[in-house]
Amino acid sequence: NNKMQIAIDGPAGAGKSTVAKLVAEKLSFLYIDTGAMYRALTYAALQRKVNLQDGNLLKELLDTIVIRLAHTQNGFQVFLNDEDVTEQIRSADVTSNVSLVSSHEPVRLEMVERQRQLAENGRTVLDGRDIGTYVLPDAEVKIFLTASVDERAKRRHEELLAKGIASDFDQLKKDIAHRDQLDSTRAFAPLKKASDAVEIDSTTLSIQDVVLAIIDIVKERA
Ligand code: C5P
Repeated sequence: NNKMQIAIDGPAGAGKSTVAKLVAEKLSFLYIDTGAMYRALTYAALQRKVNLQDGNLLKELLDTIVIRLAHTQNGFQVFLNDEDVTEQIRSADVTSNVSLVSSHEPVRLEMVERQRQLAENGRTVLDGRDIGTYVLPDAEVKIFLTASVDERAKRRHEELLAKGIASDFDQLKKDIAHRDQLDSTRAFAPLKKASDAVEIDSTTLSIQDVVLAIIDIVKERA
């Protein structure tokens, strides 16, 4: 049996996607960014001016769109139907609305269905909020990746400045804490450490340290 699923969950800005991509690359696993799927739906809903409070309308919209996570020579890209939305889904507008969009049960049920299908065959790394607790409760490896709010805001702040994008550290900190609050208190499949997940606090660790720690855990379980 060649199937192996690695679930990486945790709060916003803990480095999940960076780490998940590197782990996938080193082990030749498929990387699936579930947050990008919720972001792509949020982007589509904002474009079409769908009421973000209405879970049924959002689910109807989701049924009409194709979200594709592609691995190309340009790196990891996200397509909404045929449009490349890789950059757009990281906008402040999408980021501040994605937790509301993803809080609706009809939306989540459909997303979870798609994510399970993507993870069904072979060796995959999924990152998100509810992968270990809900999407893949039988994942062979579960990681809960955290870092202090200060550290997470600092990393995001430096990332934005490096890209030449204006950034307000205190505002970022508030936004991150607010998104954590929404994600961990929603009624359906909230952000939570699975009881069998290994918690890694990356506050004082480098990306490389975290990647190596996860690969060690994968090797133990293989
Ligand atoms: O991981 P990322 O920050 O891109 O996720 C964006 C948002 O999508 C999260 O803040 C959360 O509201 C939602 N999300 C979720 N479940 C997942 C992945 C993301 O609810 N599995």
